[in-house]
Amino acid sequence: MELMKIGIDKIGFATSDLYLDMVDLANARQEDPNKYLIGIGQAKMAVIRPTQDVVTMAATAAKRIISEEDKKNISYVIFATESGIDNSKSAAVYLADLLGILPNVRTIEVKQACYGATAALQLAKGYIALNPESKVLVIGADNARYGIKTPGEPTQGGGAIAMLVSSNPKILELENPTAAYAENIMDFWRPLGHSKALVDGKYSSGIYLDFLRNVWDEQFKKTGFKLQDYGALLFHLPYTKMGLKGLRQILQDASVDDSTRLTREFEYARQFNREVGNLYTGSLYLSFLSLIVNSDSIRSGQRIGLFSYGSGAQAEFFTGILQPNYQEGLAGVDYQSILNKRQAVSVSEYEKFFESHIFDIENIELDYQEDNSDFLLMGVQDYKRKYLGR
Ligand code: COA
Repeated sequence: MELMKIGIDKIGFATSDLYLDMVDLANARQEDPNKYLIGIGQAKMAVIRPTQDVVTMAATAAKRIISEEDKKNISYVIFATESGIDNSKSAAVYLADLLGILPNVRTIEVKQACYGATAALQLAKGYIALNPESKVLVIGADNARYGIKTPGEPTQGGGAIAMLVSSNPKILELENPTAAYAENIMDFWRPLGHSKALVDGKYSSGIYLDFLRNVWDEQFKKTGFKLQDYGALLFHLPYTKMGLKGLRQILQDASVDDSTRLTREFEYARQFNREVGNLYTGSLYLSFLSLIVNSDSIRSGQRIGLFSYGSGAQAEFFTGILQPNYQEGLAGVDYQSILNKRQAVSVSEYEKFFESHIFDIENIELDYQEDNSDFLLMGVQDYKRKYLGR
């Protein structure tokens, strides 16, 4: 009996229409621009308006890919975020409302730092195995906030990835088995009541590499896949240099062929992340999107390896096979031109937006005249968020 294929049918992305140039940030912080451009590996950072949050960005990302037909078949919305807007109610129910897919649907939120969207994807895979006619909308959306003048500042950013998971997917068939690894550690966390993450940056970068070694070895034991079996290796990219460090660790004893191929594809896969910054949950999947949009050497039928990492900490290494018409799953959206059309802000404007973040506010009416997005936050009334979809 031929096994049913399950995986990513469509993928969409949205970020802010504003960005900060990392050279401007470096100059303002009296750092050498090359520290950010090369040492951290970031060129631009998304700056999020107060009228945008994880729900509005997720709605924009999802709207770019889902058709009216898809809406009828989506029976589950799994929203992964670590910058959620409520401690109890899921962001998924707001999203399903804005997209018009209520009421015959399940809506939940999942959390495990930047690993959340991978947990959601794996849950969706199992769900589709039992419900092959259904589709699951998986979201990874975040606003990465460390704080002005903190070491983490150049690794901020934000945006949302939306993935439609189904049987017979257009883009990526998810394979079994996968390798997971968890330990209870304090490398990055955000205590209740805090709007900014706390992080032990150097420690977290070291743990990331330790976890990568663990799941890579475990996956090799389970599958026997060698470097030559991969068309590309993708990494969670809190900043793109982190993924490069991961790749270099894996390539330590690689042949020239493997090393050239995997380094070339990694460069395609970090292009968009360099221009947006950290998406937390969405970063690995933005890197996947960047690969399939930008690479002219990746081929359908090739195996992609994905390393997911979420502080605290959880890692998983999994694989997928690129499908024959994978470009169709992009729904014709031109992401490079969306990124090119963004507007630059100055460091002081960025700081103003950063401080205007809506968090624990009882009442506010927001001026949204300058926000041309399809979905936006109009304000908060009695601690209830008011959204607009247009
Ligand atoms: N040209 C080129 N590279 C330069 C440079 C220059 N002029 N100046 C510094 N660098 C390099 C450093 O050598 C270093 O590279 P390395 O990591 O390969 O050694 C890199 O730039 C960063 O410099 P460093 O001094 O280590 O930066 P920092 O102390 O300001 O902190 C982080 C960097 C990543 C730790 C910090 O931004 C952070 O805490 N980020 C959030 C945590 C995070 O994302 N963790 C990831 C796990 S999920």
